[in-house]
Amino acid sequence: MLDYVTDKVQDETRQGEAYAPFANDPNGYKKRFYIESYGCQMNFADSEVVASILNSEGFGATRNVEEADLIFINTCSIREKAEQTVRKRLTEFRKLKRKKKGMLVGVLGCMAERLKTKFLEEEKLVDIVVGPDAYRTLPALVEEATGGQKAVNVLLSRDETYADIAPVRLDSNGVSAYVSIMRGCNNMCSFCVVPFTRGRERSRDAESILNECKYLFAEGYREVTLLGQNVDSYYYVDEVKNETVTFAKLLEQVALVSPLLRVRFSTSHPKDITDEVLHTIAKYENICNYIHLPVQSGSSRILQLMNRTYTREWYMAKVDRIKEIIPGCGISADIITGFCTEEEQDHRDTLSIMEYAQYDYSYMFYYSERPGTLAQRRFKDDVPLEVKKRRLQEVVDLQNRLSLESNKKDIGKTFKILIEGESKKSDTDWKGRSSEGKVFVFPKEHYALQKGDYVLVRADECTQGTLLGRITAIQ
Ligand code: 5AD
Ligand code: SF4
Repeated sequence: MLDYVTDKVQDETRQGEAYAPFANDPNGYKKRFYIESYGCQMNFADSEVVASILNSEGFGATRNVEEADLIFINTCSIREKAEQTVRKRLTEFRKLKRKKKGMLVGVLGCMAERLKTKFLEEEKLVDIVVGPDAYRTLPALVEEATGGQKAVNVLLSRDETYADIAPVRLDSNGVSAYVSIMRGCNNMCSFCVVPFTRGRERSRDAESILNECKYLFAEGYREVTLLGQNVDSYYYVDEVKNETVTFAKLLEQVALVSPLLRVRFSTSHPKDITDEVLHTIAKYENICNYIHLPVQSGSSRILQLMNRTYTREWYMAKVDRIKEIIPGCGISADIITGFCTEEEQDHRDTLSIMEYAQYDYSYMFYYSERPGTLAQRRFKDDVPLEVKKRRLQEVVDLQNRLSLESNKKDIGKTFKILIEGESKKSDTDWKGRSSEGKVFVFPKEHYALQKGDYVLVRADECTQGTLLGRITAIQ
């Protein structure tokens, strides 16, 4: 059973990928911490676990870095640029540290795991280094560091899932929340550092996931996103109930919490998403018709070098299957340009698979070689940077066109929208999302609505990123 902390920590997202939590009443706390997160949703979810661990040890959060006794930065190693951003931020923290005696700086997450004690040699003013599986030891490490020692724990675990820790929601609109369902990754995509920084794959106790979702619903949340590096390989054996829970089954159980609770999930590996999962999505109205299905490349030759274990044709057949079982399903992808040995023809294959899949959205990157990965050890990073960037620009341009076309197709249709809050640009408009993940903005008009409510909205106009419409009915 989950033991939920009662101390609520509020927060606001800052521009970019960082945020700083804020405690309502920090006076009762023995120390104040500030935490900033970079990287994937998983990392943001981890910061909520960290906040919970620190909170229950009597540490309070602050939004003001200057007033913090402890500064944590939850880091990402996926691309070199992500690491550079963190290093730059650390130099800023260093200045603060010089000004404030006793202030401690801790590095959490993937970069901590990748660099281990090297971090302390390279960044002399870092006091604490903690990998993604060692957050339970944070209070002890803080103690150690307060005593003047350098504190490090980068042990990876085969079974840590933080199942019993109730995350303190930091970056929350009070409507949508992330729920971590598994950790680590067993895929060995040759470009990827994640298996090295987050360790072996393990699934969280299904009962604790369900309890967290029920609790969130009772607190007023109306959308959960089930998170894992590879959610389709979720597999939990409940020895007490004598049942095995697959991802399809877990999705169903979460969907049954309430028809008013929307369920999303991320990320799927094309090789693992099953028909059973697709049929479960089709069966429950509250499981969103949206799948993030990273393709990485449209060339079978490159896919093989990436160790993705599928071909171009196989991926295309998967897209067909999704559209057959879930008509109108939103699909997005991750795409890498300029992977080792990529030729113009491979690049054209990527562009054409994007056209084939008609992605609504993509996350697009140029290849960044990461130390220790299979690709770094086996292949030469031989595509010149300007070529990588030019191809990336072509991919981005195409995606912009596809997103606009996809939105245009929605004009005149009516969608069920979950209201997430006021539009950033105008307090007389609401912002929400359709099941397919499209962002809608529409006037509040005379309706007495609030965030978390569902409405039917007819799409009248669009830009590449947003649909503009009008309410046609209250749900
Ligand atoms: N270089 C560029 N992009 C990468 N990704 C992962 N590793 C790298 C890398 N070395 C991208 C992939 C992945 C997403 C999270 O980040 O597209 O799906
Ligand atoms: Fe970055 Fe990957 Fe770690 Fe997430 S798991 S923080 S994307 S390196």
